[in-house]
Amino acid sequence: MAGMPCRIESTSVPPSEPGSPATSPLPECLAWIEGEIDALRAAGLERGARVREGRQGGEVCLDGRTLLNFGSNDYLGYAGDVRLTKAASKASCAEGFGAGASPLVSGHSAAHAALERAIASLLAVEAALVFPSGFAANTATIAALVGPADFIASDERNHASIIDGCRLSRARIGIYRHRDLGSLEAVLSMAHEARRRLVVTDTLFSMDGTIAPLAALCDIARRHDAMLFVDEAHATGVFGRRGGGLVEETNTADGVHVRVGTLSKALGAAGGFVAGNARLIHWLRHAARAWIFSTAHPPGVAAAATRAIGLVGEEPRRRTELRGRAAEFAGRLRTAGLDIGAAEAQIVPIIAGAPSAAVALAERLAAEGFFVPAIRPPSVPRGGSLVRASLSWLHDDKDLDRLAAALATHGR
Ligand SMILES: Cc1ncc(COP(=O)(O)O)c(C=O)c1O
Repeated sequence: MAGMPCRIESTSVPPSEPGSPATSPLPECLAWIEGEIDALRAAGLERGARVREGRQGGEVCLDGRTLLNFGSNDYLGYAGDVRLTKAASKASCAEGFGAGASPLVSGHSAAHAALERAIASLLAVEAALVFPSGFAANTATIAALVGPADFIASDERNHASIIDGCRLSRARIGIYRHRDLGSLEAVLSMAHEARRRLVVTDTLFSMDGTIAPLAALCDIARRHDAMLFVDEAHATGVFGRRGGGLVEETNTADGVHVRVGTLSKALGAAGGFVAGNARLIHWLRHAARAWIFSTAHPPGVAAAATRAIGLVGEEPRRRTELRGRAAEFAGRLRTAGLDIGAAEAQIVPIIAGAPSAAVALAERLAAEGFFVPAIRPPSVPRGGSLVRASLSWLHDDKDLDRLAAALATHGR
């Protein structure tokens, strides 16, 4: 069905398209926005949201066209799984749809409490705290751990939510080169006067598909008396014998002090979490402002995430098969001469360079029935635009064979 129309008319109009009913002149005080958008357009960086119809799956219907879907974070295929929908409906019927308040007031429902227990058990830690999003979990937790008297060492390829959390904290920030231990040591050597030190990293990097050297980071953090904070957003459910992420996979739990993850990617639901020592979590209930001052996410969403954690335990086959196929796929692209950087997981970037080259490649792939989104600055550095193939357990060998062949034709 890939490439076939999934409805008659297309639904999305880029908001800035001339003649769109959504376009009206800006009031004078906002007129500067036109200049900014013109500049983005000239640089090949203007974006418009696509409209999806139906569920996430191995295929997806975007703007009226069905494509093989390599553009979701639904790594294990749970986002459209009816078992999550049923768990969500049951909890919504019992507890209502909206949480109705922030967690400290009355928003923390039985479904949230059960989810926090399930996360703590999956990660084999004492406690967890659930946030409305992974983005909020990162920003709030970093800002709760360090302040102006402190120092953060941050990998240059960390996710935007980590970058924003670092800025929000007002700590001094040292950026170290991607996964470069010497660079991290050099950055930390400038921080001995700081009150506290925090090393922060994604475990599986969302744009590069690379993996942080966790054992070495634990060693460096210990030697520099630093807290080690990891973001497992793309690894939870996919890595680790029980699906607990790369910390579990690399047996580094003793050296990692703060573990953030999302419920929105392999777990197919929504929300974020922080997990670790019970006293750390207790502190965050007093200091993590995006948790304190934001309405808890809907109980049905929490129940769906809890169900997904159960499925991660019951269906280990999904992660082993996904990882096996991802390794094979990456090997084939390298053999075909494609530049996929140092990708080593289910996220496979095909590096295109200029934004226009990435967009053109994504368009050629779409014409052949594949959704493989172009990723441009600010999501990646200038000159590093790419198309990113995010693999899901829902893809079979034939799907990957077809994409590898199309990339070999169009991607060099
Ligand atoms: C590495 C990383 N951390 C955090 C987040 C934010 O998670 P969420 O989408 O649950 O807000 C993302 C989202 O893309 C991510 O890639």
